Amino acid sequence: MIKLIDLPKILDDRGNLSVIEEMTNIPFKIHRVYWIYDVPGGEFRGSHALRETEEFIVAVSGSFDINLHTGKEERKISLNRSYFGLYIPKMTWRMLDNFSTNSLALIVASKGFNEDDYIRDFETFINQAG
Ligand code: TYD
Repeated sequence: MIKLIDLPKILDDRGNLSVIEEMTNIPFKIHRVYWIYDVPGGEFRGSHALRETEEFIVAVSGSFDINLHTGKEERKISLNRSYFGLYIPKMTWRMLDNFSTNSLALIVASKGFNEDDYIRDFETFINQAG
């Protein structure tokens, strides 16, 4: 299930701290971490589904929208705080857009990068999501 997950927020006069721990805050073991940054105004990222990879996305800076399709339902979720994130199960179409200036999307993934895991054609996704 697509799920917004609150992360621990350790407030401190020296600055706040949040954390993602595998199998505690998110329901998978972390294999890979990548981030998307310097997105020009009006651009979008993603626009694919992953066959076997689960991901968790945090807007560690700024904000952006995640447009989701499960094969049955569409949803749009805005991320705009560094203390919660979106869990995206495998076989979920996602497209990220509406990036604010200087936004930073942190993505933790359950598997390593493998182009064979991608479905980049929406019609193929809809057919396979069945
Ligand atoms: P891609 O996932 O297609 O970006 P988007 O999220 O916008 O669809 O990745 C863009 C390029 O970066 C692609 O050529 C593959 C490469 N890449 C890696 O080498 N390792 C990674 O972990 C990721 C996510 C992408």
